[in-house]
Amino acid sequence: MRKLINETGIDLGVCYYPEHWDRALWAEDLDRMLEAGIGTVRIAEFAWSLIEPREGEYTYEFFDSFLDLAQQKGMQVIFCTPTATPPAWLTEKYPEVLNADMDGHLYRHGSRRHYNYNSPVYREKTRNIVEKSASHYGSHPAIVGWQLDNEFNCENDNFFSDSDTAAFRRFLQERYQTLEALNEAWGTVFWNQTYTEWEEIYVPRRTNTNSVNPHQVLDYYRFVSDSVNSYAKLQADIVRKYKKPEDFITTNGMFSNIDYQRMVRESLDVLTYDSYPDFGYALDGYNSADPMKDRWWSRNLAEVRAVSPNFGIMEQQSGANGWNTRMEAPSPRPGQLTLWTMQSIAHGADYISYFRWRTCTFGTEIYWHGILDYSGRENRRLREVREVSEKLKFLQEIAGAKYVAKVGIVKDYDNIWDARQDRWHSRVDSVSQDALFVVLQQTHTPFDYVYMENHMDSESLKQYDVLFYPHACILTEERMKVLEDYVAAGGKLVMGCRTGYKDLSGRCVMDYLPGLAAKLTGTDIPEYSFVAPDERPVTVEWEGTKFEAAVFNDLLASAGDSAQVLGTYTAGSYADTPALIRNRFGRGEAYYFGGAFAEDTVRVFLEKLGVAEPFGDIISLPEGCELALREKDGRRYLFVLNYKAEQAEIELKAKLYDLFNHREEAGRQTLEKYGVRVYRIGI
Ligand code: GLA
Repeated sequence: MRKLINETGIDLGVCYYPEHWDRALWAEDLDRMLEAGIGTVRIAEFAWSLIEPREGEYTYEFFDSFLDLAQQKGMQVIFCTPTATPPAWLTEKYPEVLNADMDGHLYRHGSRRHYNYNSPVYREKTRNIVEKSASHYGSHPAIVGWQLDNEFNCENDNFFSDSDTAAFRRFLQERYQTLEALNEAWGTVFWNQTYTEWEEIYVPRRTNTNSVNPHQVLDYYRFVSDSVNSYAKLQADIVRKYKKPEDFITTNGMFSNIDYQRMVRESLDVLTYDSYPDFGYALDGYNSADPMKDRWWSRNLAEVRAVSPNFGIMEQQSGANGWNTRMEAPSPRPGQLTLWTMQSIAHGADYISYFRWRTCTFGTEIYWHGILDYSGRENRRLREVREVSEKLKFLQEIAGAKYVAKVGIVKDYDNIWDARQDRWHSRVDSVSQDALFVVLQQTHTPFDYVYMENHMDSESLKQYDVLFYPHACILTEERMKVLEDYVAAGGKLVMGCRTGYKDLSGRCVMDYLPGLAAKLTGTDIPEYSFVAPDERPVTVEWEGTKFEAAVFNDLLASAGDSAQVLGTYTAGSYADTPALIRNRFGRGEAYYFGGAFAEDTVRVFLEKLGVAEPFGDIISLPEGCELALREKDGRRYLFVLNYKAEQAEIELKAKLYDLFNHREEAGRQTLEKYGVRVYRIGI
């Protein structure tokens, strides 16, 4: 057996549903997969009833047969716990296991992910089915890994059942100990929301204004994350008792209201992601002029890397998207299946499993195409998978290599969850996050997302020359200490408008702004305002270069001797007011910028701070191509990905070894449409 996702190789897999097909097809399907270079299948994530068809009645024959066949054929298996879809007998007998909408109406059987994480009955039933599955199948030689559930928080990331309210109260009691402390943190004196008994507190419910106390909502998101994490751990602890020591535990996808760093720490060996870049071409909601389209998925992959530097793709797009009710997107064009596979690998994926082998002929996902169409006939997409597997033979040495970047974008869950509900916060943040991603991509500047976690120190930040922490509205003393250490040691930190005006409860601080960041940034903010539509765009000038201070303007004043005003607003009501301050702090520099970051703004910062195009002396390539870097044992690999439907001209300014063409190349190269190259720098 070949181990997955641990430096031994880069492998292909596929999602397979033995329960969707006549058993007579299994052997032929497995043979065809193996012939195409697919060595692993993921199975069983929606198949509870095939193990426990009625309460307390167990049967293992179905998956025993499949696993034995897989073993006989030499096919590896990732086996799943089936809890994403509780059976009808369970939800009918115990409706309290169901999730509910905000009005308390239950989500019924008939789709998926209709359960809640906190129902004591569901936890009991989960313990039971996971125990039965893991103890029975855990030692099977065909199995190489375990997937917990399927896509925690997919379909719905809000939970409003009675069990959730009961668990929310326990969560809050632990967090605050006393009602006085909770009332204080939530500012319940406002609008007479004061609580006198824990039983008066609920998960958010519909209100007259459709607005719920924001501090309550922030704690509610923390609570949802806590619920998912403790539910995942419940499963992982059981699987770990029975699985073979070398088998991994994962879960798939990335969704909102989940602290994934905690999930990896407590429950997983590795995270796997479900990558559907075709949404970039979706018929509903995507802008055809958007230069990023499928390239936005590199942002998602950067988020996955922030949790799991080497990861797997459990579901990689292989056909057209679509439920029978929504989400239509076209079939991957010839070359795109390869491009998207390589996009995942460029960011650190060492296992790629396509979704799915054959397109289902029934159910909600009849238009969610797999490699094969309904008939299973040989087709163009399967031929492309074969080609990918041939190409992977030349990339094996990259397994385990890490994506490397000198620019980091700092994040933390408190601010992410605050921005989910706070419009002022989300407006500045979404503009800056989009612009940072687009410009870093277009200037071929690899970057990482870096999460501020409790008990971290500045060591892990020192690998970055520049960190952007665009709108850390919520700041804590611990986090500021880490950032101060980073800057003092020589780092450059860039912060944007609205920094530091909230505490951990999401309450505004009475300090002079930017609150806890004032010392590090040498900045004072006597006044601030939204950018009014009739004054848009507000521009700032920095050494002769003009760029936008989007969405919001903090009007700045320098504070302290080491602070220097670098830029001022150029026109409108705030003309000549400082807009950009640099503070020398220890051996480094902190920048405070009074606006949100538009694309032209990000370009200026990257250039002035000297971090744009870090490989400009080795390679030049058009904006439509992505550049990524993976590194292992001192060897560096450059991935060049052409997302365009036209050829791209690139120029190698040094001799680079082309892993697909097996030779050194230099000078002008033509990359075919959707083409990919992987170059080794040096030997
Ligand atoms: C998700 C799920 C799969 C399937 C695909 C396509 O990623 O994990 O079960 O539903 O999407 O919709």
